[in-house]
Amino acid sequence: MSQHLIDPIATFCATYARIRPAHRGLLILVSTAITTVYGKPLNRASLTHRRGSIFEAVVRLGRILETSVLTEAQLEDAKTLAENCNLYESLDYLHPTTDMASRGKHLHFYDDEKLTGFLTFPFNGIPEPEAFVIVDPQRRRKGIGRALMDAAKESCKRRGIRQFLLVSEVKSVSGQAFAEAVGGKCKHTEYRMRLQGKPPKPTENAISLRQADEKDLSSLAHIMAESFHNPIENHFQRLKRNIGSPTYRFYIASVAENQIGCIGVVAENRRAYVIAFGVLTEHRGRGYGRQILTQTVNGLLSENWEDILIEVEANNQAALSLYKSCAFTETTSYNYYSIKTDN
Ligand SMILES: CC(C)(COP(=O)(O)OP(=O)(O)OC[C@H]1O[C@@H](n2cnc3c(N)ncnc32)[C@H](O)[C@@H]1OP(=O)(O)O)[C@@H](O)C(=O)NCCC(=O)NCCS
Repeated sequence: MSQHLIDPIATFCATYARIRPAHRGLLILVSTAITTVYGKPLNRASLTHRRGSIFEAVVRLGRILETSVLTEAQLEDAKTLAENCNLYESLDYLHPTTDMASRGKHLHFYDDEKLTGFLTFPFNGIPEPEAFVIVDPQRRRKGIGRALMDAAKESCKRRGIRQFLLVSEVKSVSGQAFAEAVGGKCKHTEYRMRLQGKPPKPTENAISLRQADEKDLSSLAHIMAESFHNPIENHFQRLKRNIGSPTYRFYIASVAENQIGCIGVVAENRRAYVIAFGVLTEHRGRGYGRQILTQTVNGLLSENWEDILIEVEANNQAALSLYKSCAFTETTSYNYYSIKTDN
């Protein structure tokens, strides 16, 4: 069935189900009026012109599809749109992956069967999911971004999520202006760093790295909670989801028989990200972090990934200087804006 037909029918059913019986007559009246006056499904142009009118909610719901996975075709559409947006402002923002396609929440804005806007919560992160939003450069400043944000808030509210983080690359003029316009409050900034060359070999190597499996979930969650100072449950749930995924791997670092830290890698599309890197507080300051990182990075180098990347909070001086001394260089940065879903 064409998108033109699916949208209004799905909209009508979804809206009808949520509305009080006493008000259903009114909805039918409004829908009939829309069909009679316009004779076809409302499109993006009409959305622009009727912002703020009684038709707005119906139109917005009608153009946006929410999915929990991405089909192959949807993933290809999202990749094309993301590539165009990245090229347009020389960004390194969103890179849809097959891993992302198998979970999360995705909002698609269609314009005549063409994906012109896309908002994704790639991993349904805990406790605050992270959202990325892109709009076709030829279709900007027409309210598509805002419509996607409204739909994202609704989606979160339905799932009991009271706030989420909107990610914007700092050098994206449109992204920064948009995040401010939708009421985002910048919570923190992260650098993306890229390995340029080879990390120096550590002078001593006391640690051993062992790839973790499901039996190690509790130990890993414990190390991460202690290293990042947040609740164990957050890590446990996330690890449980990721540990079985073919794109993720996690390692436990030990000295003699003692587990002292952990590190992870998520790798796809020629890019490998170093993630979940932490050393337990009592074992810091002894060079173990450097040993864990260089062993991991050297392993990745031998696998020939085109890019080896790591992300770090801008105010984490200790980690920043370690990464710099291990041949990582800042390539770009991202602001994380807190968005409340109840306003
Ligand atoms: C950011 C982005 C998603 C906005 O999409 P959009 O459909 O153009 O957004 P909207 O039309 O709903 O704009 C909402 C408001 O944001 C602000 N805004 C958006 N782009 C802007 C720009 N280039 N300059 C100044 N203000 C801008 C305006 O206040 C705008 O309201 P107005 O048009 O009534 O003045 C789009 O520009 C994009 O894909 N950018 C690249 C990806 C990116 O940086 N995403 C991060 C988002 S936080």
